[in-house]
Amino acid sequence: MSILSKKQKSFSKIPTHIAFIVDGNGRWAKKYGMPRNYGHKCGVDAIKKIIDSCSKFGIKVASFFIFSTENWARPKDEVDYIFQLAKDMFEKTLSEYKEKNYRIHVIGEVSKLDSEMQEIISKAVTETQDNDGMIVNFAINYGGRDEIVRACNSLIKSGKEEVTKQDFEQALYTCKLPDPDIVIRTSGEIRISNFMLYQMAYSELFFPKKYWPDFKEKDLYKVLIEYQGRDRRYGKLA
Ligand code: FPP
Repeated sequence: MSILSKKQKSFSKIPTHIAFIVDGNGRWAKKYGMPRNYGHKCGVDAIKKIIDSCSKFGIKVASFFIFSTENWARPKDEVDYIFQLAKDMFEKTLSEYKEKNYRIHVIGEVSKLDSEMQEIISKAVTETQDNDGMIVNFAINYGGRDEIVRACNSLIKSGKEEVTKQDFEQALYTCKLPDPDIVIRTSGEIRISNFMLYQMAYSELFFPKKYWPDFKEKDLYKVLIEYQGRDRRYGKLA
């Protein structure tokens, strides 16, 4: 048993949902004189490891923002490489995640992705849909603003003239997920870059300086320790 799993017992507050903005792959690679795409490759390895760490800590939902609606503006060879990595990641981890009882979930405008990516995602989601362990949620071609506009349009199309918060939440990509308790953006950038704009209303935010490929279980543990001391008041008095 690792030191972390022993210490986990001392947590009084275990977050249900942690969302990661996996930032800094390119800068990490540059630091080591390597091409940006190498950084993305190592970024995928870091995602795989952190998924298992989340499960170890008893997290119920782990989300990863891996491609935004704005990331299409990056050079084509980088975009193509990211999608190749994402395809490989889904394909190579599927049998392992089935065994580990993880349930794969995807948010974002998947219908705009190439047909191979759509098929791979659909297979991973379908083949893990009966698992009742941790939900591993990937945000791909996801944008918070697009999600909100899309929800408005679907509610208008359904004929509603007035909506409740519940109606609105049901129309979001995240309708089946709880809001994130914690959002972690690596790389030292202090912004949320169009991620879960509605859902993040009361999330606790963390901005570790490490680039994503360097973010390890011990760094997640530090976040969880700091989270113990955060006073989530939701507007009430302490
Ligand atoms: C938000 O910052 C960060 C993301 C949407 C994650 C970006 C990560 C990748 C594209 C690589 C991940 C790929 C794999 C396969 C793991 P931003 O850079 O979109 O926004 P900013 O310009 O405001 O910093």
